[in-house]
Amino acid sequence: MRSITEDPNISNKTILLRLDLNVPLVNGKITDTTRIDKIIPTLKYLIKQNSKIIILSHIGRPKGKIVKTLSLKPICKYLEKKLNKIVDLVTKNINEISNEKLFDNLNEKIVLLENIRFYFEEEKNDSNFAKQLSRLADIYVNDAFSCSHRPHASIDKITKFLPSYIGLQFDQEIGALKKITSEIKKPISCIIGGSKISTKIEVIKNLISKFDNIIIVGGMANNIIKFMGHDIGKSLQENKSDNIIREIFSLAKTKDCKIIYPEDIVVAKDLNGIPQIKEINEISQNEMILDIGPKTINIIKNLIDNSNTILWNGPAGYFENPKFANGSIQIAEKIIQNNKAKKVYAVAGGGDTVSLINSLNGINNFDFVSTAGGAFLEYLEGKELPGIKALN
Ligand code: 3PG
Repeated sequence: MRSITEDPNISNKTILLRLDLNVPLVNGKITDTTRIDKIIPTLKYLIKQNSKIIILSHIGRPKGKIVKTLSLKPICKYLEKKLNKIVDLVTKNINEISNEKLFDNLNEKIVLLENIRFYFEEEKNDSNFAKQLSRLADIYVNDAFSCSHRPHASIDKITKFLPSYIGLQFDQEIGALKKITSEIKKPISCIIGGSKISTKIEVIKNLISKFDNIIIVGGMANNIIKFMGHDIGKSLQENKSDNIIREIFSLAKTKDCKIIYPEDIVVAKDLNGIPQIKEINEISQNEMILDIGPKTINIIKNLIDNSNTILWNGPAGYFENPKFANGSIQIAEKIIQNNKAKKVYAVAGGGDTVSLINSLNGINNFDFVSTAGGAFLEYLEGKELPGIKALN
């Protein structure tokens, strides 16, 4: 894997730059800009090289269809403001554009192609689609470490058609994660939450041998509560996860790893409903789990006190609504407090987790904050991510 800074011949070239601009949007407004802010140095570096830049990114999961609310338009506007340059959002079908048409206005040197996941070929890792993308540029740069666990066309197949490099942010993430995994101090507790259950549940199995405690919260925990025989009502869940959960518990026993899941929770009738603290055996059919309860918060705080390293990915509840943010905030504040007292080495990863920590002004009390969520966990697993394999 070579960094773009190692290529002596990049001046005046057209660069196809894959970024992860998958930031949280509420009513078309960006609520956390960390992922964008972190790639600005790469853009500035390329601008200095007099490059023409074609940015590729996804936002959300439109599954190959055009979804208006998942347009990159707000991100385009933010980029223009940050760079103080025109960034042209290209909405024309990628299969019908050519390089000359992209940069017909000589003053424009940066274009942003509309959400790459509007094309079904992207997630299919389609060769022809990657080839068409490659026709637009001279060099490909992946500065989207946080998407590199996805074997998609703009991450994987594209590298077959262009000289390929990693960007500055990718380099930094890998450098920091390598250091963390080689110097990590036990006892290690890993807190895994969030709503992307299907991405993470498999990963847990492979983390068991590495950590002392795995604390499962958020949407991730719902399936476990269900597995234990409790009704989880309308809560977010993943079908057919019982076998994986069974494996997780039996493996944890043999590897001396404790699996912790909520003992009490906060439920409501819907995402804006009235919060109610309940035991896990008291959930009604018309309720959904939206946060962890006070007993669980105390258990987690004790574990944080007894850990030398904390790795955290994914909030404990539906933190976007302040009524259900308490569990996530309490976890964040406890880690921040212990890190300030130099009692714990703290690492966090994932768009939502970073956004939550930012809202508490706690970013400086984490030793490393990765913009990656799923990719961060898969890297910790020791897996070679498809994006990294392609570049190697
Ligand atoms: C992320 O937010 O982790 C990345 O942007 C990847 O998104 P995905 O889980 O939808 O592939």
